[in-house]
Amino acid sequence: MKMPHVTLPDGDTMPAYGQGTWHMGESRGRFADEVAALKLGIDLGIPLIDTAEMYGNGVAEEIVAEAMQGRRDGLFIVSKVLPYNASRRGTIDACERSLKRLKTDHIDLYLLHWRGSHPFAETIAAFEKLKQDGKIRHHGVSNFDRNDMEEWVRNGGEAVASNQILYNLSRRGPEWDVIPWSRQRKISIMAYSPIEQGRMLGHKALAEVAARHGTTPAQVALAWLLRQEGMVVIPKASRQEHVREDLGALDLELADADLADLDRSFPPPKGRTALGML
Ligand SMILES: NC(=O)c1ccc[n+]([C@@H]2O[C@H](COP(=O)([O-])OP(=O)(O)OC[C@H]3O[C@@H](n4cnc5c(N)ncnc54)[C@H](OP(=O)(O)O)[C@@H]3O)[C@@H](O)[C@H]2O)c1
Repeated sequence: MKMPHVTLPDGDTMPAYGQGTWHMGESRGRFADEVAALKLGIDLGIPLIDTAEMYGNGVAEEIVAEAMQGRRDGLFIVSKVLPYNASRRGTIDACERSLKRLKTDHIDLYLLHWRGSHPFAETIAAFEKLKQDGKIRHHGVSNFDRNDMEEWVRNGGEAVASNQILYNLSRRGPEWDVIPWSRQRKISIMAYSPIEQGRMLGHKALAEVAARHGTTPAQVALAWLLRQEGMVVIPKASRQEHVREDLGALDLELADADLADLDRSFPPPKGRTALGML
């Protein structure tokens, strides 16, 4: 397996495949299984983990800490500040709390989870201070449409490295403007809910393409995202068989005929639509 990377605006790189953690840490009884799934991912060579202070009310970050124990080097950790905390002081305090729970001295990419009421300039000032202090390496945003991105940049956020958005075959709206706008500027797109939380896996078109390659619908959906320039894909799997299956997408190369069939069943946008959010 060869791990693809995307190049960020400052020339640094970030892995194009990672493990999501939403809904982890919500039940104490599943803690060990969730740690084991992330550990397996690390063992198999998945270098990126996406988490947030929101997930499991902080417990997801503790699960990440447990899974990466002794193996922080070489991993790329993404976390997010809640919009309610995103004042200048609040962002710095939230990051310190995340660092403690993650048991690490830096976060590789720190995102504003979605836009809230604190002025962008305040959050950006905090991100820059955290970067200067070596507590984060890159910063960015999440759930930002093109107009939000433009406003962010106007307010001093030119260093934005990534925008994490809802994007998958059944949610192609972002292809109209926020994706091309970002790609032009080398701002990576992190596609969240890349298999639509499992809901799209029963689709006939995915089954047909998967059958042609002897793979699975999840692998087809992920491979379709992975072939796109500047795209980072972060499926979440707490079951070990899902971790292995999803990772198999890296070995799947879709042919032109597959892409044409997928376009027919999941058509690209014909105009602007508001960015979706889960
Ligand atoms: N920035 C944001 O606002 C935002 C919003 C949503 C998500 N995210 C991030 O993106 C990550 C991924 O999105 P997501 O968790 O919403 O959805 P997802 O990755 O599309 O789907 C996760 C669900 O699909 C199941 N699954 C995984 N692989 C499967 C397979 N091969 N076959 C069948 N089912 C499979 C998982 O089950 P098991 O867990 O039982 O294995 C889980 O229930 C999140 O975990 C989070 O890190 C960010």
